[in-house]
Amino acid sequence: MSGTMEQETPFDGGGPVIVAIDGPAGSGKSTLARRLAAHFGLGLLDTGLLYRAVAKKLLDAGIDPADEDAATAAAERLAPADLDPACLRGEATGNGASVVAAMPAVRTALLPVQRRLGAEGRGSVVVGRDIGTAIFPDTPCKFFITASIEARARRRHKELLNRGETPIYARVLDELKARDRRDEARSVAPMRVAEDAVVVDTSELDIDQAFGTIRSLMDERLRMSA
Ligand code: C5P
Repeated sequence: MSGTMEQETPFDGGGPVIVAIDGPAGSGKSTLARRLAAHFGLGLLDTGLLYRAVAKKLLDAGIDPADEDAATAAAERLAPADLDPACLRGEATGNGASVVAAMPAVRTALLPVQRRLGAEGRGSVVVGRDIGTAIFPDTPCKFFITASIEARARRRHKELLNRGETPIYARVLDELKARDRRDEARSVAPMRVAEDAVVVDTSELDIDQAFGTIRSLMDERLRMSA
C-alpha cells in the first residue's frame, strides 16, 4: 500500500473511499491506478500481486500451479513480505497467477485480505479483475480499463524489451489471449464489466489522456453519489 497527497480530495469527512479499477493485462490499468492514487491521496492495492505471490510460492518450490491443495495452502499463509512487486513481475508468474486465480478456494482465502487492505486509512485505488463485481461491489467509483488485444500485446512486448528481456511478439500476443480466456471463463468471479462501471478504452489514448478521462469521470461519479 502506498499513497501520497498531491491535492485536496473531494473525499473528506466520509468513510474509506474505494476506487475499483478492473481490466485485462496490458490495458494500462496499473499505471492509471498509480496516478489516481497519488492524485487523490489514496492508497494503492494491486490485487494481482496476491495471485502472483501464490503462484510464485508454488513455482519456487517446483510445484505445478495447477495443484489446488498446494495453491490453497499458499494463499492461506500469504504474508506481507510475499508481496514485493519486484519479485513478482515475470511472465511465468503472471501466467501461473491466472491458473491459481481460477481456483474457488484460493479466491475465498484472498477475499478478506483484499477487503481489509483496501479499506485501510482513507481508502484505496484497488486494481484487479473482480474488484467492482466481487470485492467492493458497493463502491460508486468503478472503472473497467480495456484496449484492443493488439494494443495490449504491443505495450507488453515493449515493456519486456525495456526490462532487458527478449520477447517474441507473437508469443506475447498468444499468452495474453490465453490469460484473457482463463480470466473470463473461470466459474468464480470471472473478469467482466460490472453493470455500473464506466468502460474506458485506452487503445488510442496515451497515459495523460487516459488519466484525464478517468479523473473527470471520477469527479462526476463522486458528485452523483454525494
Ligand atoms: O494484474 P496481474 O497481471 O498482476 O494479475 C495476474 C493474474 O491474477 C490475472 O491474470 C488474473 O488471473 C489474476 N487476478 C484475478 N483477480 C484479481 C487480480 C488478478 O483473478 N483481482
